[in-house]
Amino acid sequence: MKSLDRRDFLKSLAVAGAGVLSPAILNAESKVHAPRISPTLANQYPFFGIHQQGIATPAQKHIYFLVLDLHTSSRAEMKEVFQTWTAYASKLTAGENVAPYGKNLLVPPKDTGEADSLNPYNLTLTFGVGASFFDKLGLKSVRPKSLKDLPHFPRDQLREEFSGGDICIQACADDPQVAFHAVRNLVRVARLKVTMKWSQMGFNSYEGKETPRNLFAFKDGTINPSANELDKVVWVKDGSWLDNGTYLAIRRVQMHLETWDRTHLKGQNDTFGRMRDSGAAYGKNEEFEEADIEARDENGERIMPEDSHVFLAKKTGIQVLRRSFSFASGVDSRTGQFDAGLLFISFQKDPMQFIKIQNALGNVDRMNEYITHIGSGLFACFGGVSKKNGDYIGRALLG
Ligand code: HEM
Repeated sequence: MKSLDRRDFLKSLAVAGAGVLSPAILNAESKVHAPRISPTLANQYPFFGIHQQGIATPAQKHIYFLVLDLHTSSRAEMKEVFQTWTAYASKLTAGENVAPYGKNLLVPPKDTGEADSLNPYNLTLTFGVGASFFDKLGLKSVRPKSLKDLPHFPRDQLREEFSGGDICIQACADDPQVAFHAVRNLVRVARLKVTMKWSQMGFNSYEGKETPRNLFAFKDGTINPSANELDKVVWVKDGSWLDNGTYLAIRRVQMHLETWDRTHLKGQNDTFGRMRDSGAAYGKNEEFEEADIEARDENGERIMPEDSHVFLAKKTGIQVLRRSFSFASGVDSRTGQFDAGLLFISFQKDPMQFIKIQNALGNVDRMNEYITHIGSGLFACFGGVSKKNGDYIGRALLG
């Protein structure tokens, strides 16, 4: 209704009330909505492909992560939902609204409209399903054995309101409103079949191609598998319905900023085994020089603290693809402190990769003093969608 002023709107209501629908007014809506800015290839990722976007895609600046519960036990209904989401997602990621506006002013617009005049801002939409999805839809026989609740880890303080769920939608974009608009419209069209369980907004701030700093001010995301390691680390290749997909582990990790801010800089560096300013590992000068966890000084002492986060994670020799975002969600009513931290997200072809690293961090990680894991989820993210033959997200599973 952008350029339709209040008087015109009231007039249209009066006309409708009188039962006389003027064609001029009914047709007005198509004229009042400017088309969305035509996207260029530089600000969008293709929706169709072997893999879903939002996994190997470089992390954008914003995330809206939403977890849904099923409100139906009908596979046919869920198939329809995923077909509609496929059509919507292909439009949204191309910077289009989910449907053109109709001409009738007396029905709600088909698209909620808050991304009108915005480009796609590199929007990616990634869909996954949790273990409970299979139970609720009678699909237990095809649930991968490793798709189950993550085990309880030492020091976990998980809260029900940030854990589990049947379906996840990860919307990432370089603009927060574009990401939110996408999720909002996906939920809106499925609102009789799904309910919202929990969500988290997050952000990554960086200049150019620099590694973003997390809220502890450390560069976060330095070590990740290279493009040619993704088959080994990330993509499922087993001929099942999850072929070319992956597992997404998510943890809502509160970071106790007040405690951290009282820690001297050496203690902060020791926590990670890296230097806060440069991001270089202990004993190295540059961020991307590989850490040597065995290196010793002239006294034979290990250079990298044995309880540092990087020492413990690297020692496992296991890789995952980390794609995390910071969050700041007001004040935690339980503590009166910032409810802020890291929405840790990792992708791996086998959940055990995440589980083994998290177990190794366990009680030992020096970072534990400053963090609490309060949310958790594990989702199987489908392979990508082909442009041909009426393919849709999850077709290999839902038929
Ligand atoms: C608040 C939570 C966390 C924070 C603030 C954090 C921060 C960091 C930082 C600053 C680094 C070094 C730079 C880099 O390579 O990106 C790092 C590395 C790493 N982290 Fe975390 N992390 C967190 C949670 C986790 C969790 C839950 C896991 C997995 C279970 C994990 C796994 C790793 C791995 C595998 C590395 C790379 C180690 C290497 O090979 O050098 N992190 N993290």
